[in-house]
Order: sequence, then C-alpha cells, then structure tokens
Amino acid sequence: MSGCPFLGQKHRFFPSKLLLKEDEDDSQRGTNKASKGGIIYGEYLQLDKVLNAQVLQSELKKNKIHDEHLFIITHQAYELWFKQILWELDSVRDIFINGHVRDERNMLKVVTRIHRITMILRLLVDQFSVLETMSALDFFDFRGYLSPASGFQSLQFRLLENKIGVAECQRVPYNRRHYRDNFQGQESEVLLRSEQEPTLLQLVEKWLERTPGLEKDGFNFWGKFQANVEASFKLEIEKLEQKPESEEKQEMMEDLNKQKELFASLFDEKRHDHLLSKGDRRLSYKALQGALMIYFYREEPRFQVPFQLLTSLMDIDTLMTKWRYNHVCMVHRMIGSKAGTGGSSGYHYLRSTVSDRYKVFVDLFNLATFLVPRAWVPKLNPNIHKFPYTAECCDSSYCSSEDSD
Ligand code: HEM
Repeated sequence: MSGCPFLGQKHRFFPSKLLLKEDEDDSQRGTNKASKGGIIYGEYLQLDKVLNAQVLQSELKKNKIHDEHLFIITHQAYELWFKQILWELDSVRDIFINGHVRDERNMLKVVTRIHRITMILRLLVDQFSVLETMSALDFFDFRGYLSPASGFQSLQFRLLENKIGVAECQRVPYNRRHYRDNFQGQESEVLLRSEQEPTLLQLVEKWLERTPGLEKDGFNFWGKFQANVEASFKLEIEKLEQKPESEEKQEMMEDLNKQKELFASLFDEKRHDHLLSKGDRRLSYKALQGALMIYFYREEPRFQVPFQLLTSLMDIDTLMTKWRYNHVCMVHRMIGSKAGTGGSSGYHYLRSTVSDRYKVFVDLFNLATFLVPRAWVPKLNPNIHKFPYTAECCDSSYCSSEDSD
C-alpha cells in the first residue's frame, strides 16, 4: 500500500478525466496551420543550411573524433551571437550618426540595445564552460586537422572591437605584424572601413560634450565644481591645522594634499590633452566633464537614462575583458604553452591582450577616482535650473521605431 494520500484516490480522478470530450480539453483547442501552406519553421530559419554546416575535418580524414562536433558548434554559436551584437551595435551607431539622439526620446532605444549587447556578452563569457567539458587530450586528437585555422581570423570579432573603439595603436602586434595582415581581399577592406567609420566611443564622446548644464554661460557645472572642490579642500586643510600635532594628523595632511593634487590634475586641461595623446585617456576634456556631471546628477530625471548608458558601456568593457580572460584560461588548459594554430605564441600572446589597452571606456572607470562627498557637488535650484527636468524633443528629427531602424 502506498503512503501517498493521492495515489489511493487514483481511480476517482482518472475516469472523470477520460470522460472529458475533446472540445472541452483546453490544452487541445486549436488548429494545425502548418499543412495550410506558407513558410514553416525549418524554412524560415533556413535550418537546411545551418544544420548542415558542421563538417568534421577528422571525419573527412577518415578518423572521426567525437568532440570535434562540439568544437564546431561552439564556434558557430559564438559567431552567430557576434553577428547579433554587430546588428545591435550598427543600429545604435546609426541612431547617433543620424543625430537622432538629439531627440532624447530615442535614448531609451539606445540604452535597451546596448543593454542587450551586455546580456549577450554575459552569455558568451559563460559559454566557454561547455567547451571546457572537452579534455586537452580529446582536443589533441583532432587539433592537427585545424591548422592554420584560428579564432584570430574571426572577422566579426575584429569588427566588434573596431566598432566599439579599440584603438589601433593600442593593439598587441601579432608576431610583430599588424592584425589586418591576416585578412585578405574584401575582408581586409571591410576591416579598414570599420577603422575609419565613427566608433561607438567617438559617437558617445560627441553626445557627452552636449551634456546640458556644461554651458559656461548657463549652469557652468565645471566652473562651479572646480570652485567647490578647491574651497572644500581649503576648508578641510584649515580644519585639520587646528588639531594638535600628532602622527595621525601628519598622515591625514599628506593624504589630503595628495587628494588635492589629484583634483588639480583633473582641472588641468593641458595635462588631460597630454594623457589623451598617450592613449591613457580616450574622451575629450568636455566629454569627461559631461560624464562626471551625469554621475553626480544621475538621480535627476534627465540624467537617469544617460547614467544607465554609461553603466552599460563599462559593462561592455568588463565583459570583453572577462571574455579574453576566460578564453586564455581555456587555451592554457587545452594547449599549455604550445604555439597557436594561427601561428602566434598562443597562451603568451593571448595573455598580453587581457589588459587595459583594450578597454575602450577606460575614462568612465577612472572617473570614480574623482567622486566627492555630495555636499561638494554644485547645488541645483529647481526654480532656476530647469534643464534637468526638460528633455530635448525635436519633432523634425524624432523617428518612429520604423524610421530609425
Ligand atoms: C579549444 C578551444 C580553443 C583554443 C585552444 C583556442 C586557441 C586560440 C589561440 C592559440 C589563439 C591565438 C591565435 C593563434 O595563434 O591561433 C586564439 C585566438 C582567438 N580565438 Fe581561440 N581558441 C579556442 C576557442 C575559441 C572559441 C570558442 C572562440 C570563439 C569565437 C575563439 C575565438 C578566438 C579569437 C576571437 C581569437 C583572437 C583573439 C585576439 O587576437 O585577441 N577561440 N585562440
């Protein structure tokens, strides 16, 4: 006998269910439409092409290795997602290029698509763990058949880097050569074009330069911020000077002076331009001011969506770094310090790419250095400063979802 109270009543439930007429069963209500013509699932998705595109080199060489199937599917899945990221990225770049961001109603679309890119990247970062179920020995069994194919030749990955804004001069050389030397013909041309077109970084920079509240003859955020910071440091130093001499006071004074110097460097435009020329900063001085303003006033209605955008842009950089890191860890485990099938030093080359050189929105990260107590931030007076509440809506450039796509 069963201990389950429901099992004992089994016979009381089933007969009534069986008695249900077909048209009383909600789960079966509907009509089969596939037989009535029109495009069906497999045709719509062109599965004949997609699902027949897994050709195992090991099988062609009469030595079929089971795990090569996983290796191919994984790479194809990555390339499909790269394609989707590029699709979103191009659409966002177009919105900026066509000036549609001047109408702030379009910003939600920009933020939504950039956020979608971050969600895909999250997936791609984690996806390596599936391929890691293959052991180094199993990989070794078919690796010989791949050469000279290599992920280094992924056109879409390079397009992605270029369109986001990875600086050409910051790239790690590939066997002392330019990365584009590995591409030929049309692929090389497409890559060159992607280096010359406006990058997401450049477009965001132009947008940040227009941050409302920066106008010198208006709210003049930067002028006010500098005055506040300098006055606040002066006050803090004076307060500290009142205290009796001690080792702790000395340390605090040193710390305060260091902080003061750090901020003095922020207000030094020439220094900024020098760092810009070295590639240590990537945003113009005006754009940097706009970004800091968005950070400070992120709770104001007009700055909420821009703040989300800046957050997602940093997420892109973080996730791309995580992608590089997870990839190189997997490569180390699979091939140790052997050379890559594409001809690089392999692990050592890839390890050198996991660095800030490849971070595009590095300035947005560094801005956290310059966050100050709320009391130091220039105050907004809602009776005088209307700009944080009234967004720019220019009907002539406003596009419906169809127009701007
Ligand atoms: C067993 C798995 C893998 C191994 C052993 C491996 C190995 C390597 C090696 C050694 C390189 C350096 C270039 C060379 O000399 O070949 C490389 C580059 C690259 N691989 Fe992989 N890879 C694997 C999986 C993947 C997957 C799943 C992707 C996804 C698309 C991928 C994408 C790339 C890309 C984009 C590069 C260029 C990175 C750069 O130059 O910054 N790899 N890979």
